[in-house]
Amino acid sequence: MAIVSSNIDRSDSRSSGEKHRTVDPSPIQEEIGSVREDGLRPKHFSDYIGQTPLKDVLGIAVKAALGRGEALDHVLLYGPPGLGKTTMALVLSNELGVKCRITSAPALERPRDIVGLLVNLQPKDLLFIDEIHRLPRVAEELLYPALEDKRLDLTVGKGSTSRMRSLELPPFTLVGATTRAGSLSSPLRDRFGLTERLEFYGLQDLKAIAQRTAGLLGLVISEDACFEIARRCRGTPRIANRLLKRVRDFATVRDEGAVIDSRLVDEALNLHRVDDRGLDEIDRRLLGFLMGVDGGGPVGLETLAAALGEDSATLESVVEPYLLQVGFLQRTPRGRVITARGKSHIASKEKK
Ligand code: ADE
Repeated sequence: MAIVSSNIDRSDSRSSGEKHRTVDPSPIQEEIGSVREDGLRPKHFSDYIGQTPLKDVLGIAVKAALGRGEALDHVLLYGPPGLGKTTMALVLSNELGVKCRITSAPALERPRDIVGLLVNLQPKDLLFIDEIHRLPRVAEELLYPALEDKRLDLTVGKGSTSRMRSLELPPFTLVGATTRAGSLSSPLRDRFGLTERLEFYGLQDLKAIAQRTAGLLGLVISEDACFEIARRCRGTPRIANRLLKRVRDFATVRDEGAVIDSRLVDEALNLHRVDDRGLDEIDRRLLGFLMGVDGGGPVGLETLAAALGEDSATLESVVEPYLLQVGFLQRTPRGRVITARGKSHIASKEKK
């Protein structure tokens, strides 16, 4: 399978001026650069751990498409960052035995960007568009007939001599990925035959992912150590793999023993101020701020963002999903509120 990636622009996935967070689920530059040759990514359904309902649905769709000799229907994958949407697109292309062309919606600024991708597709190829909720209007309008009728409608010439030309496209599969399914226009959303949500991973799956990655990196690590990474990676494989690399650094420098154990993981992650539930400084500041407002909120998103010096979109799509997931935070119509569980977590940190 060949992967072609074009100008992946994810530059605004982190708020401006912010120092990189070890537990930020958005990809860091190094991870974006390695989409093409990252040996850690699973390549088939059989080595993709977790997301069983998703694999079941897509597995059937792939088998049916292969059986009929057709392109797979268009797929929309949505859910928090870092859960494996890009990886799943690559798995799909491997299972289908087709090329995967990877791009990101903000990179499709000019009509020629999307046109260039579409006219170069081979029959049944997979086109992956990340952050599809950010698709520029022109690209979106060119995509509608392409998705529905395999047709590219182009305007040739200028002014009074301009004409419409329709170009036939080969059958292809669009895999769109988004952290904000609600921000897609409904005509675009309606053109996907399969719309599937990725869920945060459970501890056993995360432990298995840490073990798999450790094996690929040639690390000798105990089961308990992998479980400790699982507990601290916010339900997110991308973070698990990143934490594992930070633990590897720590182990290299310490050079204490042959096996990485849970004590070493604990020390390494404490150094990065990632606590026992995977919270970092910004999470703790957010919860701490809520505690200080009438004993727990409510506080509106914009106020919270201003108080923390963060961008509200980053708070909403990157920081909050995990705090909501673990039940430390609630979104109410009047604003954000810390829960009893969130309070007790913060209190336990303040005692230390
Ligand atoms: N690495 C990152 N995500 C993974 C997954 N879901 N399965 C196996 N390895 C992974």
